[in-house]
Amino acid sequence: MRKERRLSRTILGAAAAVSAMAVTAPVDAAEGDAVAGERAFRARCQLCHAVDPAKGHGIGPNLHGVFGREAGAVAGFKFSKAHSASGLTWDETTLETYLSDFAGTVPGTKKTVPGVRSETERQNIVAYLKALQ
Ligand code: HEC
Repeated sequence: MRKERRLSRTILGAAAAVSAMAVTAPVDAAEGDAVAGERAFRARCQLCHAVDPAKGHGIGPNLHGVFGREAGAVAGFKFSKAHSASGLTWDETTLETYLSDFAGTVPGTKKTVPGVRSETERQNIVAYLKALQ
């Protein structure tokens, strides 16, 4: 519980930094809301994915630090061959595409859940994943 609150504060901090940047930098329309993304993640992804590095893997791999990493690179999780061979590196674009259609983006994946239909929700989840560094 304490850990979760600390994580939320980190994310709020990251979100505040993003809005502070928006004052001086041109607004990036594709930048999601990490706080809303955390809520969506809890509802849709947490069942299979832990984000606390101390928690290890679940049905899916732990997603701490996934942003910027190559697909299937995290140690200790048995990825499908298709996933490991996808050649993807997780950034805004690849994550958003992946979240819209998991099996369409990585044909042959063992992950059979449907994608996230709302573009805003996808952007929010990506902003959340990005903040988990
Ligand atoms: C039913 C369980 C399940 C749910 C729900 C689920 N995933 Fe996954 N996820 C997996 C599995 C299993 C893999 C590994 C796929 C493979 O090896 O083919 C995976 C892989 C991933 C990866 C790639 C990680 C890497 O290191 O390459 C990301 C990113 C990811 N999921 C994000 C999400 C997000 C965000 C959500 C919520 C919108 C979500 N997942 C919902 C099971 C799930």
